[in-house]
Amino acid sequence: MFHRTARVLEHVPLAERTFRVRVECPELAAAIRPGQFVMLRLPNTTDPLLGRPFALYDTVLDATGTPVAIDVVYLVVGKMTGRLKDVTAGESLEVWGPLGKPFLDVGEPDSVALVAGGIGQTPFLAFARELLGTRGFGGDAPRARTKSVKLYYGVRSASLAAGIDDFRAAGVNVHTASDDGSIGTKGFVTQLLESHGRTGPLVGCGPEPMLHALSKLAAKWDVPCQVSLETPMACGVGICFSCVTKVRTEGGWDYKRVCVDGPCFDAAQLVWE
Ligand SMILES: Cc1cc2nc3c(=O)[nH]c(=O)nc-3n(C[C@H](O)[C@H](O)[C@H](O)COP(=O)(O)OP(=O)(O)OC[C@H]3O[C@@H](n4cnc5c(N)ncnc54)[C@H](O)[C@@H]3O)c2cc1C
Ligand code: FES
Repeated sequence: MFHRTARVLEHVPLAERTFRVRVECPELAAAIRPGQFVMLRLPNTTDPLLGRPFALYDTVLDATGTPVAIDVVYLVVGKMTGRLKDVTAGESLEVWGPLGKPFLDVGEPDSVALVAGGIGQTPFLAFARELLGTRGFGGDAPRARTKSVKLYYGVRSASLAAGIDDFRAAGVNVHTASDDGSIGTKGFVTQLLESHGRTGPLVGCGPEPMLHALSKLAAKWDVPCQVSLETPMACGVGICFSCVTKVRTEGGWDYKRVCVDGPCFDAAQLVWE
């Protein structure tokens, strides 16, 4: 794990209350894999004291193809993100990672459906590049695992849709849904997915009710489904047990720490409440 005070190279708005911050951290960028996350903390302050977890959105390469920075995309929801948005290029952030495990292996299917709700699209850009074989991560050479990646992306309203152009530029087929019908189909993203019919492996990230609905659809279709959980975390490294989720075991269920055992879990193994 790398921990450093890193320079912010770029910080731009992507949508309503949604920003992309680019952090210079070559060692971390070279090591991190899609599905893993980093902790970001504002330096020189104890308010908030703790770092906050954010998914890898993308790695940034220099002219020789060497990873030099990472992008994080975040929604402003509270204290840390409310202050993060005021950090400008040239200032610093504390960053540590890679944390957690990468996405579970999906095999080599014809197509993979990534299903995002709210700010849940953030782990999927790097994953799409990895699946399509257009970028290697963690020192691996690029290798295509699938021919087609679809993103099903649900938001409350069009103003919150962030990064769609990045996904399209990466070769992803994007389908949108919104609560108010201002972008894509009106309704839940899982309804949109279901209307398109049975597909390859499903990978979800977003609010728990959406992930639960996705896991039921996966069971109905009998397709593999993994979900990336965004459980609030204090330490991010397995010490505090603030991030636990219930996972099925042979005899019943047990708590697993999302930060070290996840954040990606087989949806069929989770105990949904
Ligand atoms: C593995 C992982 C990856 C994540 N990736 C991203 C990402 O790429 N982009 C992004 O915008 N966010 C991501 N998150 C969520 C992000 O960590 C929280 O939004 C952030 O910690 C909020 O910090 P804050 O200080 O601004 O809000 P706080 O002041 O701590 O909280 C503000 C409000 O938000 C609620 N809240 C805080 N965290 C969460 C959460 N995880 N889920 C639901 N409610 C929460 C609190 O209960 C409170 O009501 C991720 C979380 C995890 C665990
Ligand atoms: S956040 Fe501390 S154990 Fe997971």
